[in-house]
Amino acid sequence: MQFTGSHILSISQFEQRDVEYLFKVADAMEPYAQREKRTRVLDGAILGNLFFEPSTRTRVSFGCAFNLLGGHVRETTDIKTSSISKGESLYDTARVISGYSDVIAMRHPVAGSVEEFSRASRVPVINAGDGPSEHPSQALLDLYTIRKELGIKGPADKLRIAMVGDLKHGRTVHSLGKLLSLYRNIHFTLVSPRELRMPAEIVEELRSKGHEVLETDNMEAGLHNNDTVYLTRIQEERFANQSEADIYRGRFRLNQAIYTQYCKPNTVIMHPLPRDSRSEANELDNDLNQHPNLAIFRQTDNGVLIRMALFALTLGVADEIHNHVEPVSWFTAKRFHNPPPNRT
Ligand code: NCD
Repeated sequence: MQFTGSHILSISQFEQRDVEYLFKVADAMEPYAQREKRTRVLDGAILGNLFFEPSTRTRVSFGCAFNLLGGHVRETTDIKTSSISKGESLYDTARVISGYSDVIAMRHPVAGSVEEFSRASRVPVINAGDGPSEHPSQALLDLYTIRKELGIKGPADKLRIAMVGDLKHGRTVHSLGKLLSLYRNIHFTLVSPRELRMPAEIVEELRSKGHEVLETDNMEAGLHNNDTVYLTRIQEERFANQSEADIYRGRFRLNQAIYTQYCKPNTVIMHPLPRDSRSEANELDNDLNQHPNLAIFRQTDNGVLIRMALFALTLGVADEIHNHVEPVSWFTAKRFHNPPPNRT
């Protein structure tokens, strides 16, 4: 695909070679994200960071990624404080904000809204989550993390992954499923309540590409024999009423005891975060916090690299990063988490 000037709306836009190229660019971002040196390649550029739904890490990491490339960030973080609350259309907002920005990252509660917005935008738009539909940058950082965790250098063929939780409303698993489907012979175990199964069209797409898909509501059986277990939160904001979400909270939990009993040793533990740590949910227990196979904070670290790569590519400066380098003069703590344990 042609990255420069393109919107990044869905994983369906990607071919395997685009993913490999993006990961190479992300690798090159490491010294900048680690504050070993800095680049001003995007000095003067402005990111419009539009978040019309709650977010912590996606919003902040898009912003930090842009800052780390030398660019500036303008944020809108609430529908209530933006003119959308006065009845403004996505079309008008897009015409306006794209006049102020060089690139836009956008999250919105309605499926398809970011694509609609992008049609009126004059600058590239990156989908930071459109309702229950997709979250492409999360899927890219998830696969990037899986490869680093498992020491996979090339394609992620033959990977065995369990996805657990609210697979119906979880946009991260929709995008990650599509992304993994670009590879060969992936084994998906989809663990969810019957009512919250992965949308049939996605399961169909995975099977039609030759992947093995097992759907179950039996957590213990589903955890068996995977390389990676990917937990998700019940997406309570997508339910018509909270009492319905309550039915499913806490149904599928991973903790130290369950991990030890049912997972293959060295299974990588992932979650897009936020994990719901309230006692009635607690899908990923704090008693795994020190576990070497818990990759959740390496996922968040990797998110910065992937988002830097997306900006460098959509703005056409991926080959120029190192031409604008300066030293770092301030005290720099080691900020990224320890590298994954050697599992090979
Ligand atoms: C996810 C999201 O917003 O879809 N969070 C994230 O971006 N890392 C998952 C979630 O909210 O459960």
